[in-house]
Amino acid sequence: MQNERGIVLGIETSCDETAAACVARGRNMLSSVVSSQIEVHRKFGGVVPEIASRRHVEAIIPVIDQALNEAEVTLAGIDAVAVTYGPGLVGALLVGLAAAKGLAFAADIPLVCVNHIEGHIYANFLAHAELDPPVLCLTVSGGHTELVAMHGHGRYEVLGRTRDDAAGEAFDKVARVMGLPYPGGPALENLARSGDPNAIEFPRARVEGRPLDFSFSGLKTAVINYLHTSEQKGARIDYPDVAAGFQRAAVDELVSRIGPCVRATGIRKLAVSGGVAANGALRAALGGLVAELGIEVFCPPLPLCTDNAAMIASAGYYGLAGGRMSGLDANAVPGARLEDVSSEGYGSLS
Ligand code: KG4
Ligand code: ZN
Repeated sequence: MQNERGIVLGIETSCDETAAACVARGRNMLSSVVSSQIEVHRKFGGVVPEIASRRHVEAIIPVIDQALNEAEVTLAGIDAVAVTYGPGLVGALLVGLAAAKGLAFAADIPLVCVNHIEGHIYANFLAHAELDPPVLCLTVSGGHTELVAMHGHGRYEVLGRTRDDAAGEAFDKVARVMGLPYPGGPALENLARSGDPNAIEFPRARVEGRPLDFSFSGLKTAVINYLHTSEQKGARIDYPDVAAGFQRAAVDELVSRIGPCVRATGIRKLAVSGGVAANGALRAALGGLVAELGIEVFCPPLPLCTDNAAMIASAGYYGLAGGRMSGLDANAVPGARLEDVSSEGYGSLS
C-alpha cells in the first residue's frame, strides 16, 4: 500500500444492491453506501436479472461518489479497488467490475477481485476488532449456505454447503407461497413471532455420506405440501404456526452442523454472516451454543449482515496484503466458489 492509511474502495453489485465503501487497513470502515433495488423487484416477487443490471448502471457512479464523499477522500487518496467478481448474476457483476477496472486504471492503483462469500466472512473482521483466524464461518444468505474453516486470511476449507436451496432462498420461497412480500426472510420471521414453533413438525434433512452438508429443498417442499393439503381439505391454516415451524426446522438444520465442525477442527470461534444472520431465532439458537459447546459466537450488526461493499473492501485489503492482485482483464464468474480463492488465487481469472 503506497498510502499510510491503506484505504481500499470496495464495490459490490452481485445481486440487487449497488454498494460502495471505503475501508482503512481492512478494519476501519470510513463509509458504506448501499442503494437497494428491493422496491423495484418486489412486484415481481424476486430479483429480475435484466432490471438489476440496468439499475446498477444508473446507480454505480453516484454510489461510489457518495462513498468517497462520506469518507472524505478523493480517488487520489485511495490505495486499491476491490470488487466482487462472483458468485452472482453475471450482468450485475459486470457493472461493478467495469466501474472498478475503470477507476483502478484511471488512478493507477491495484485492482483485487473478491469472492462474494469471502466478503460476507470479512464482515465479521470489520465488526469485531479482536477477531482473527482460525475461525469457523457460517455464511447464510439468499444465494449460499456454507460452513467454512478459515485457517488464515484467504485460506478456506469448505466443510459443508447446501446441496440444493440456500437457507435464505428457502425462507424466500416459503414466504412467497404464504403470500408474504419479497424478500421473504424478514416477513416470515415477523409472522413466526406470533406462532408456536412446536405446533407443526417439519422434517430435517440429512445428506447421505456428507453429514456436514445442508439441504433445504425437502423442508421447503414439506411446507408447500402441508399448505396445499390443508387447502384441499378445507382445513384452517394457522400461518404463524407454519412460519414458526418452518423457521425452527431451518434454524435446527443450520445449528446442528456446528458441534461436529467444532469437534472436527478444534476451532472454538464461530463467525456468522449473510442476510439470514439477521434472523433473531438463528441468533438465539447460536447464542445457546456458547455454553453448550464452549465457543465464542460472532455476528456482525444487521447492515453488515446483508450485502454491502465494506466487507468486499476488507477482504480485498487482506487479499492484497497476501499478494493477490487482478489484471484489468478480470472477468465476472457467476458460479465462483470459495475453494478457488485459496487454491488458485485470483491470478487465474480470465
Ligand atoms: O446476504 P444477502 O443480503 O444477499 C445474498 O447474498 O443473497 O441475503 C439476503 C437473504 C434473503 O434470502 C433474505 O430473505 C434473507 O437473506 N434474510 C432473512 C432475514 N433477513 C434477510 N432470512 C431470515 N430472517 C431474516 N430476518
Ligand atoms: Zn450476499
